[in-house]
Amino acid sequence: MTKPRVVKTVSRMQSISRDAKRAGKKIACVPTMGYLHDGHLALVRAAKKLGDIVVATIFVNPTQFGPKEDLARYPRDFRGDMAKLASAGTDYVYYPAASEMYPENYQTYINVEKASRGLCAAFRPGHFRGVATVVAKLFNIVQPDAAVFGNKDFQQLKVIAQMVKDLNFPIRIVGLETVREKDGLAMSSRNAYLSGEDRRNAPSLSRALFAARKMVGQGERNAAKLIKKARAVIRAVGSPRIEYIEVRDCETLEPVSRIEKPCQMLLAVWQGKTRLIDNIRLNPKRS
Ligand code: PAJ
Repeated sequence: MTKPRVVKTVSRMQSISRDAKRAGKKIACVPTMGYLHDGHLALVRAAKKLGDIVVATIFVNPTQFGPKEDLARYPRDFRGDMAKLASAGTDYVYYPAASEMYPENYQTYINVEKASRGLCAAFRPGHFRGVATVVAKLFNIVQPDAAVFGNKDFQQLKVIAQMVKDLNFPIRIVGLETVREKDGLAMSSRNAYLSGEDRRNAPSLSRALFAARKMVGQGERNAAKLIKKARAVIRAVGSPRIEYIEVRDCETLEPVSRIEKPCQMLLAVWQGKTRLIDNIRLNPKRS
């Protein structure tokens, strides 16, 4: 187990990548905001199969947080993250300061239009603009051949895949299945915010999704009925605040009323002061 090398500047990262490419090596990148869990490490392990060199990035990106969101209290544990990244076999960790990424007079932002509408975007205005911008910058800095993201943030993955296609980034985007706790809760850095009772109630999100998937397996095709069931499962415990539960086409993210081809059920729910998201594939042929 070798310790990953920490790189803090754009110029150093770009020169490492340039040298690696000249030596014929493929680079795989895993962008993160740190406070890593097994979901992140699954991405690193997948990246190891896609490239000769794995670069993880740790950057809590201010431009994707709204003014009333949790930027200041977002959990951080750089030393713990380094130990985890070492055990997963990471070669480099790009860990810039905010001023390195957004120096004074920074002006350019990327807006992925359709994929950044509705779902989370309806409740987090500007969020995906910040995500697309920082990921584009990270791609230009790390210059990976492949980059790995989680299905956990399904809309984010769609936004990034669309951006890569539209702007002709020569990068393969790979989406990986959501890693869950034993009780079904999707792993998330923000789970650290959950207090005892909220943590106990949080698995209702995945229970709702699994219940919907089971109904599809039993022949239900009506999206409204699946959403009604999911709502009931979530409302059954605690006092959750449901932002949205929707069924969308898993390719185009268009709303669907009947499950005739593979769809995605997506939801965002507040448990206490913590906003949680999750989603699941609904496949009429396979479930
Ligand atoms: P972060 O929330 O740290 O997540 C980093 C990556 O890990 C994302 O691709 C996310 O989808 C993935 N991930 C999170 N939880 C997961 C889980 N339980 N199973 C599998 N993958 C999981 O997403 C971000 O950071 C940022 O928006 C970022 C893309 C880094 C841009 O700032």
